[in-house]
Amino acid sequence: MAIRFSSEFAKNITDNTIRAAVLETVTALAGACKQISHICARGPLEQGLGAETGGANTDGDAQKALDVRSDEIITKALETAPVAYYASEEQDDIVTLAASKPLALASDPLDGSSNIDTNVSIGTIFSMFEAKDNAADSFLRPGSEQICGGFFVYGPQTTLVITAGAGTDTYVLDPDSGDFELALAAMKIMPVSTEYAINASNHHHWGAPIRAYIEDCLLGVAGPLAAKYNMRWVGSLVADANRILSRGGMFMYPGDDRDGYGDGRLRLLYEASPVAFVIEQAGGAATDGTRRILDIPLGTLHQRVPLVFGSKEPVQTLGDYYKKQDIL
Ligand code: AHG
Ligand code: MN
Ligand code: MN
Repeated sequence: MAIRFSSEFAKNITDNTIRAAVLETVTALAGACKQISHICARGPLEQGLGAETGGANTDGDAQKALDVRSDEIITKALETAPVAYYASEEQDDIVTLAASKPLALASDPLDGSSNIDTNVSIGTIFSMFEAKDNAADSFLRPGSEQICGGFFVYGPQTTLVITAGAGTDTYVLDPDSGDFELALAAMKIMPVSTEYAINASNHHHWGAPIRAYIEDCLLGVAGPLAAKYNMRWVGSLVADANRILSRGGMFMYPGDDRDGYGDGRLRLLYEASPVAFVIEQAGGAATDGTRRILDIPLGTLHQRVPLVFGSKEPVQTLGDYYKKQDIL
């Protein structure tokens, strides 16, 4: 056993075969991520986890040893799970495991790679669909068709934040039992917050709406937003998402004018969509600035998307800055 599910988990999935397949696949994934967590906990004792392999993924990111190793561990775990197709940040194309099986899974095997050698929280993100009759159609669809999604965080605790469409729960890997135990059920994000997360060093690359919004936050109580703001930026999406789930806030990775960053840095299929699913199920919001992330159809496997998510009120306020911009 790797995870002790709550009795309510995935109860909304009415097809018993699919529900059983989801539970079996999450269990297989939890076993794989326990292995990744163990490797992360050994850090430098594991020789060069953060070392570049010399390879690059489709998105052009230099691959680190732990990126590749995590992808191998997950691929192996899925070979015995009810998964037909696997799409990964670290693989150019979709992997067909067994076309007759019922599910399709997409993953960012190691999120936050720039933090691997710094002992900062990193993680694994995953998104699950019912498989269609071919690999491409199983993933080239809107994120609203996910049946399960979430992420593992390898930090002071190893946690699993997950939803199957009926609320967001957090499981914690109990170092004593070796199992993931339910710790926080039906999580709710604070609707209002004055804490935001953005890589502020990109300020001169941003478009006008984001620049105007951040500048108004920086004006604090005397500014148009009339509040004192705080800022956090981890550089691991899973860590920022986990903090926002636990105490509110808003994460922004907008498009900017750097080469290749017109749609930001984060990928729709295996980063933005599963995080948006978890955040919405906890009562928050997730957009590309104006459009709901889960409504955006996937055109290409590693497609990037600008990502804004978190407490409903600031996501809405930022959306108004974009709308004002459209009117100008
Ligand atoms: P990955 O390591 O899978 O490429 O993801 C890193 C992402 C995300 O985790 C994080 O929020 C973002 O990159 C940080 O981007 P910058 O380094 O540009 O701030
Ligand atoms: Mn990532
Ligand atoms: Mn990654």
